[in-house]
Amino acid sequence: MKNIAIVTGASSGIGREFVKLLLKRTEIDEIWIIARNADRLQSMVAEFGDKLKSVPMDMSNIEQIKSLTDTLKNADAKINFLINSAGFGKFGSCSDVGIDESVNMINLNISGLVAMGLVCVPFMARGSRIINIASQASFQPLPYLNVYSATKAFVRNYSRALNVELKERGITVTAVCPGWMNTAFIDRGKTDTAKSVNKFVNMVTPDVVAEKALRDSLRGRDISTYSLYVKFNRLIAKLLPQRLLMKIWLRQQRW
Ligand SMILES: NC(=O)c1ccc[n+]([C@@H]2O[C@H](COP(=O)([O-])OP(=O)(O)OC[C@H]3O[C@@H](n4cnc5c(N)ncnc54)[C@H](OP(=O)(O)O)[C@@H]3O)[C@@H](O)[C@H]2O)c1
Repeated sequence: MKNIAIVTGASSGIGREFVKLLLKRTEIDEIWIIARNADRLQSMVAEFGDKLKSVPMDMSNIEQIKSLTDTLKNADAKINFLINSAGFGKFGSCSDVGIDESVNMINLNISGLVAMGLVCVPFMARGSRIINIASQASFQPLPYLNVYSATKAFVRNYSRALNVELKERGITVTAVCPGWMNTAFIDRGKTDTAKSVNKFVNMVTPDVVAEKALRDSLRGRDISTYSLYVKFNRLIAKLLPQRLLMKIWLRQQRW
């Protein structure tokens, strides 16, 4: 039986940083990398070597995720790490973002993440780890980022509850809550509209967030936050009324 890690959203941003960290772990035989663009996955295999296995799929399509069960059985795989990083957010008012993008965010950020976890858990054992990428946006409702912040609140709450459920099987679930990171996420999110997010306060690079998240997961933590700024935001979200938090957000964006 081979030990594998699965990283979704592996071709870019924080997902790619997790792949680099997992490559250093000698107990992992293969890292399965998932994203839609097969060419970009293949160029990662060329860059990092054939310990990586390219598994292109669209994670907003649940049938494609379910088909992974047969691939895992045929590979005789034990999953040591599942890192659910695939996700996107669209910036703008509810009518600017529209129905298709709004529902697609829910399909990928929520349904895709849940389905991937449920497919993978039967192939996990004591000591296996799930790392789900939520966001600082999960701490409060965010007008003009309303669907995205709500999907990330789901990811944070779901992951914490799942962590308690899976404790008796020795599986740890960690929700990672990054602030702004300098990745392709920002360009995919921007819209040419008045209420597209335009102030990215305290932006960091994704490598430092991934390193901290892996450390926190190995320590058995159910939440991972990087930087004093994000920790402070998490704290005030517990103390201040949500109406006030939303006003602060709007003022920060100069709206
Ligand atoms: N950047 C930030 O400021 C920030 C802050 C907090 C949380 N986050 C969260 O961090 C996670 C990773 O974002 P990132 O910043 O690393 O963004 P990124 O650089 O845009 O990476 C997104 C990755 O997800 C893949 N992906 C997108 N849609 C997919 C789909 N339908 N099916 C399968 N894969 C898909 C992309 O590849 P393909 O396009 O080829 O599919 C890419 O590999 C997301 O969950 C995001 O919500 C980001």
